[in-house]
Amino acid sequence: MTARILKPTRENILLCAQTLKKGGVIGMPTETVYGLAGNATDSDSLTKIYLTKERPTFDPLIVHVSLEKATFADLMREQLIYPHELSDEAVKRIDLLIRKFWPGPLTLVLPKSDLVSDLATSGLDFVAIRMPKHPVALELIRTFGLPVCAPSANRFGKISPTSAEDVEEELGDRIDLILDGGECEVGLESTILKVMEDGDLVLLRPGAITREEIMEATQAPVAVITGGKNPHGPQMASGMSSSHYSPDKKLIMLPMPLSQMMSPPQLGQSLPKKIALLVMKGKAEDAAVILSELLETEVIAETLSESGDWAEAGKTLFKKLRALDASDADLILCEPCTETKGIGYAVADRLMRASAPKK
Ligand code: TXA
Ligand code: MG
Repeated sequence: MTARILKPTRENILLCAQTLKKGGVIGMPTETVYGLAGNATDSDSLTKIYLTKERPTFDPLIVHVSLEKATFADLMREQLIYPHELSDEAVKRIDLLIRKFWPGPLTLVLPKSDLVSDLATSGLDFVAIRMPKHPVALELIRTFGLPVCAPSANRFGKISPTSAEDVEEELGDRIDLILDGGECEVGLESTILKVMEDGDLVLLRPGAITREEIMEATQAPVAVITGGKNPHGPQMASGMSSSHYSPDKKLIMLPMPLSQMMSPPQLGQSLPKKIALLVMKGKAEDAAVILSELLETEVIAETLSESGDWAEAGKTLFKKLRALDASDADLILCEPCTETKGIGYAVADRLMRASAPKK
């Protein structure tokens, strides 16, 4: 059976809300990537999410809310967090972050209340919460009336979907309904920030809301958890494996940008007939010519942003990776991304994981 892709009419949103009420899961658009949404308060729905994605239950889910006013007090009404553990400084920072960045691509990891299912948090004492910016997601959550858990709507470890068609490709044989909210504006999963009881801030996953913006807004340092394989620093979120966002084809990161490459790169494997190449900026065709001359093989290429704009690169990364994966090339190569700041840092993180050896 194939999933139905639904235009986001009032009627279809009602149908999706009813499906959630009955314990079903659906494809939901957000401004970051599409999510696989289920009732956050129903353990059967949560189990269905894990099964549908083939995701291990030790990898916790993000709870999506729609608040009337984006403030700490309003979040308290959802009864998801346990405020007694939080210092005044922590409450002040959370309120500030919510007011400034919600609705939007920032997930806050906060001490959880007893009402949040252990299935949503994989037994952790903290719960990840965000208020998405996509109007269709907000309307769906409001219509449903309860928070929804929504991991990215891809099979576990695969590339996150940024359109309804991508969700169909990933999970079309496993779910019935996909709400079509168009192409995702951000294209990368949300920034994940943990707020400790004393108010200390820890970045668990970089995203479109940057570490610099968070430090500027809070006037506080933001620690970065290292331990991922990226020498430039991107880190692991709890339960996040270093190999993630993988295309089906092998993806190898080149040791340097093509513009600096004087001799053929060592691939550590036999040279395939056709290579797909992902370049960070500039014209894809120019990069394809350089690589095909160096390797003496056929090369097709995609660029993340001709002008070198990192927001555009973030928006197109998964789409282009998906396109190259679907091409008739036998191997994908990508230029390294060495950005340590801004959205480029999130792009570097995803590329590092996508090219990490699969376990
Ligand atoms: O943009 C997004 O965040 C998208 C859209 C659909 O909202 N969702 C998303 O969910 O990326 P997912 O499940 O693919 O990634 C969520 C990550 C997981 O890797 C998990 O480890 C981390 O969030 N996470 C969730 N709850 C956590 C917690 N309590 N503590 C630490 N990390 C947590
Ligand atoms: Mg994901």
